[in-house]
Amino acid sequence: MAKKTEQDGKIKKAWAGRFRDSMAASAEKFSSSIHYDVRLYKQDIVQSVAYAKALFKVQILSEAEYKKIVKALEDILKGIEKGKINLRPELEDLHMNIEALLIEKVGSMGKKLHSGRSRNDQVATDLRMYVKYEVTEAVMLIRKVQTILLDLAEANIKVIVPGYTHMQRAQPVLLSHHLMAYYEMLERDKIRFLKVGEGADVLVLGSGALAGTNFNIDREMLAKELGFSKVSRNSMDAVSDRDFLLDFLQASSVLMMHLSRFCEEIIIWSTFEFDFYRLSDKYSTGSSIMPQKKNPDIAELIRGKTGRVYGHLMAMLTVMKGLPMTYNRDLQEDKEGLFDTTDTIKSVLEIFAEMLATIEVNGELMSRSAKKGFLTSTDLAYYLVRRGVPFREAHEIVGEVVAYCEDSNMQIEYLSLKQLKQFSPHFTYDVTRILSTESSIANKDVTGGTAPKKVKEAIKRARKNLAHDKA
Ligand code: ARG
Repeated sequence: MAKKTEQDGKIKKAWAGRFRDSMAASAEKFSSSIHYDVRLYKQDIVQSVAYAKALFKVQILSEAEYKKIVKALEDILKGIEKGKINLRPELEDLHMNIEALLIEKVGSMGKKLHSGRSRNDQVATDLRMYVKYEVTEAVMLIRKVQTILLDLAEANIKVIVPGYTHMQRAQPVLLSHHLMAYYEMLERDKIRFLKVGEGADVLVLGSGALAGTNFNIDREMLAKELGFSKVSRNSMDAVSDRDFLLDFLQASSVLMMHLSRFCEEIIIWSTFEFDFYRLSDKYSTGSSIMPQKKNPDIAELIRGKTGRVYGHLMAMLTVMKGLPMTYNRDLQEDKEGLFDTTDTIKSVLEIFAEMLATIEVNGELMSRSAKKGFLTSTDLAYYLVRRGVPFREAHEIVGEVVAYCEDSNMQIEYLSLKQLKQFSPHFTYDVTRILSTESSIANKDVTGGTAPKKVKEAIKRARKNLAHDKA
C-alpha cells in the first residue's frame, strides 16, 4: 500500500514534500487521466524496463535491483493484462500508478527508477511508441482495402460507366479506371501514414523534465532497446512536441475524407434512381416503419464519423496553439482524441473492406447507361480536329449536333452520315466508328488514361506494388 498521511487519510503524493495541504478531491478528480491513459500501459512498462537498464549501466541501480525491478515490472504488465490490478484515480495518471505498484512490490528501490526521468519525457515516449504501432495497423488495413479494390477492378474489367463532372455525365470510362482512382487515393494515404511513422520514430526519453538528464544516460542504447531509429536533438523540443500526433490526426483526416467521398458515391449509386450498386443485406439496414426500405447505414456512418476525426485534429491544433515552452498540463488533452481516432479509423477500414467485398455491381446497367447522354461528343469534336478543324470550331459544331439530337430525341450514333454532313463537310463514312463508348475508351490510350490496355497495366502494377509492400 502507498503511504498515507496521518491527518486526512489520503495517499501521499510524489510531490508531497513541498506542500502543506493536500489536494482537493475535486481537483484530483478533474486532473486525473488514468481512466484513459491506462491504454499506454504496455509502452510505459516496456520503456521503464529499458530505462532501468540505462540506470543499471550508470550504477544508479545495482544488478540485483535492476533484475528485481524488471521482474516486478513484468508482473505488473501481466497483472494489468489480466485485469487483476486496481488502478487508482487519486494517483493521477498511468505513470504514477505504475510507479506506486512497483514500490509496493519491491520497496524503496522502486523509488530509484524515476532518477533523471520525468513524466514529461515518459509520456512523449509512450505516445511515440503508440503512434508508431498504430501506423503499422492503419497501413495494413489500407492494403486490405486496396486489395479488394483490385479484385473488384479485375472482376469488372469490361464494365463501362458514365464518368461524371459536376454530377453530370461527362465521358465514358471503365468502371475499373474509376475504382483505381480510389486505389490511388489510398496509396497516398498509405505513404502519408508511413511518413507519420518516420516522424514519430525519434527517442525522446532521456530529455528529463525539459533540460536533458543527469547520470550520463545512454540514450543511443535506449533508442535501440525501444526500437527508435533516431534520438531527439533538443530536450526542450522533445518534451513539448506533439507534431507526430498532429500528423497522425491529419493523415487520419485525409483518409476519412477519401473514404467519405467513396461512401457518398456508394450511397448515391445504390439509390433506386442509379441502381449501379447493390449493397449486400449483410451491410444494410431496414426501416422500422417502411417495409420496402434498404438503407446504406454503414456507408453513411463512415461518412458521419469523418466529422469526429476532423474534430480531433482541430481540437489538438487548438490545444497546441498557445503553449509556451515546454511541457504544460494542457498536453494531457492529447490522448483521448488520438485514441478515438485510432479506434475509429481501424473500425472504419475493417467494415469498409467487408462492405466493398460484398457489393454487387450492376455492370450491365452501367454500360447501358453510358450510352445515353452524348458522352462521346468530345470524341466527335476530336474527329473533326484530326481533319484540321480548330478545336473551338469543332466544339461548336458538335454542340449543334447535340442540340439537334436532343430536340429530335435521338442518340448521335443513330444519325446518318447525310445528317451529320449538314453540320460539317468534314464528317465522312468512318465517323460512326468513333461514336461508340468502346472506341471512346480505347482512344484514351495515354498514360493514366482509361483505355483498357492502360487500366490493365495499372492494375498489374498495383498488384505488384502491394505484393512488394508486404514483403
Ligand atoms: N498525465 C500527464 C500527461 O498526460 C503526464 C505528464 C505530467 N507531467 C507533469 N509535469 N504534470 O501529460
